[in-house]
Amino acid sequence: MEYRFSSRVSQLKSSAVRDILKLTQGKDMISFAGGLPAEEMFPVQAVREAADRVLLAGPSALQYGLTEGYIPLREHLCSRMAVKGMAVTPEEMILTTGSQQAIDLLVGVLTEPGDTILVEKPTYLASLQVFALHGLNVIAADSDENGIIPEVAEELIRKHKPRLLYAVPTFGNPTGRVWSLERRKRMLALCKQYEMLIIEDDPYGDIKFNAKDHFPTLFSLEGAAKDGSVIYTSTFSKTVAPALRTGWAIGDSRVIRMVAKAKQAADLHSSTMDQQILSQLLSHFDLDAHITSISKEYGDRMLEMHGLLQKAALPDLKWVMPKGGMFIWVELPEGLDAEALLRNAVQKGVAFVPGSSFYADNPMRNTARLNYSHNKGERTVQGIARLIEAIGEFTVRS
Ligand SMILES: Cc1ncc(COP(=O)(O)O)c(C=O)c1O
Repeated sequence: MEYRFSSRVSQLKSSAVRDILKLTQGKDMISFAGGLPAEEMFPVQAVREAADRVLLAGPSALQYGLTEGYIPLREHLCSRMAVKGMAVTPEEMILTTGSQQAIDLLVGVLTEPGDTILVEKPTYLASLQVFALHGLNVIAADSDENGIIPEVAEELIRKHKPRLLYAVPTFGNPTGRVWSLERRKRMLALCKQYEMLIIEDDPYGDIKFNAKDHFPTLFSLEGAAKDGSVIYTSTFSKTVAPALRTGWAIGDSRVIRMVAKAKQAADLHSSTMDQQILSQLLSHFDLDAHITSISKEYGDRMLEMHGLLQKAALPDLKWVMPKGGMFIWVELPEGLDAEALLRNAVQKGVAFVPGSSFYADNPMRNTARLNYSHNKGERTVQGIARLIEAIGEFTVRS
């Protein structure tokens, strides 16, 4: 049988992270590749108690549910959003199967194949896969330590007339960067001026290392969902557990209704059981205290990795210490191809994601993303030692 696949999927590159994760399984491999939270920080006991309460209350969690999501969880999330300056009603919110599905559904309802989308360079790999699957042209604006560069973005907007901006303004993946307030305001104004909608993806905003830091979301700067140009999405994946596959999107109710229509076609609704567990969890568990302790732990792990990189004192190894999130973005010596380095590193028992995966075009090949949330202590020490050895060998050879 010859299987004919659509041109959109045929062109789809499989995720480098998934390929690397396959390579790293079952060996003495230390992986800084996946964006995995620390398993030992999962609130297992609280989730177990929440699941018990859900099932003791009767069979409803095992039934089909609303496409828009379990109402008590939406109400609870609305209160949490309001505290962050993002007051919305449950009709302006939809629960999704992770924020990944929110990105996919939003792109599906807001674009036609052949449309153009503007992103930051570099950007989240799996969002690039979504854009490819929907047949979009992706244009990428350069960014620096303060985020996307508005002047570059404006030039691209004028030339390519994109329909949407996709942005991760706080602790971006892969760079960990935070957009400055000035750039947030400037990009909002630009998108309004050129009538573009913004998908603001914010899975990491809560994981900040200095509790006093405040990085207002684009959505909060705009002020309201109604008639707004920002559709915001976030997730419980990084703050509770990714296996519960629950994210949410908020925005103008007309957009949310359209997303619900698309979601019906995609999967009817996300898991009722997971949503009810989360709803119980939010009622009986101090999620904010939990987020504080994860953030403290990840901050310590980041400092550990940062310290080891510093100690290695390799010339031409550059990175900016992140203020939150899960990744250190490393610039390797000029001319070093991180994909080739990865093959050598994997032989030595350490994995990372080569930076090229995060570029829509013209990748900076001498870049790498290191995750610090998943490993700690001796494993981080060993992993960085192996990585430094691999880089050292490459630098000598070239
Ligand atoms: C920037 C970004 N957006 C979205 C997601 C998807 O998260 P989930 O679908 O688990 O909510 C991730 C996951 O790593 C991410 O890094």
